[in-house]
Amino acid sequence: METWPSPSHHRPMIDGSHPQSLLYVSHSCLVRPRDDLEIARIIEVSRERNRALDVTGALIATYRFFAQILEGPDAALDELMASIARDWRHREVTVVRREALSARRFDGWSMAYSGAAGYVDRDIAPLFTRSGLGSLPDTDRLIRLLREFVRSPL
Ligand SMILES: Cc1cc2nc3c(=O)[nH]c(=O)nc-3n(C[C@H](O)[C@H](O)[C@H](O)COP(=O)(O)O)c2cc1C
Repeated sequence: METWPSPSHHRPMIDGSHPQSLLYVSHSCLVRPRDDLEIARIIEVSRERNRALDVTGALIATYRFFAQILEGPDAALDELMASIARDWRHREVTVVRREALSARRFDGWSMAYSGAAGYVDRDIAPLFTRSGLGSLPDTDRLIRLLREFVRSPL
């Protein structure tokens, strides 16, 4: 007996299935500019590992928060999140949205990066206070911001 829909039914991207997308927010443990080298390390590792896992996405690092979208095969997202969630460089890693997409939002970007202006904090901070997944309108706004940074990198 099969239940449907089930994430395990998603085939690898190479078969033309829908990519999964995950959005999380977290509190940064980095003190900047002192720890800017850590950000550079994260980006470098991410670009290499994400490419190998067929994962694309974008990361915003403000002084207080991270917000990151990862998109790709379900199993790859689980594997990556296991590493990311135990990373000492942030805490309170909170997944606010996870969904199947008909097409990637960050196609071609193994990890787009933006050191965002502080005003983005206003969009990220409220997402921690909700239990479970965030409300769609609030996460929509954050996803739009991430996409804008990709179109016009700071
Ligand atoms: C905010 C943040 C975002 C990260 N994003 C990614 C990512 O997209 N891909 C990735 O491979 N590692 C990412 N990392 C690094 C991982 O946490 C981890 O250090 C790295 O993948 C190496 O994995 P390992 O520690 O299990 O060997 C991120 C770390 C932080 C703090």
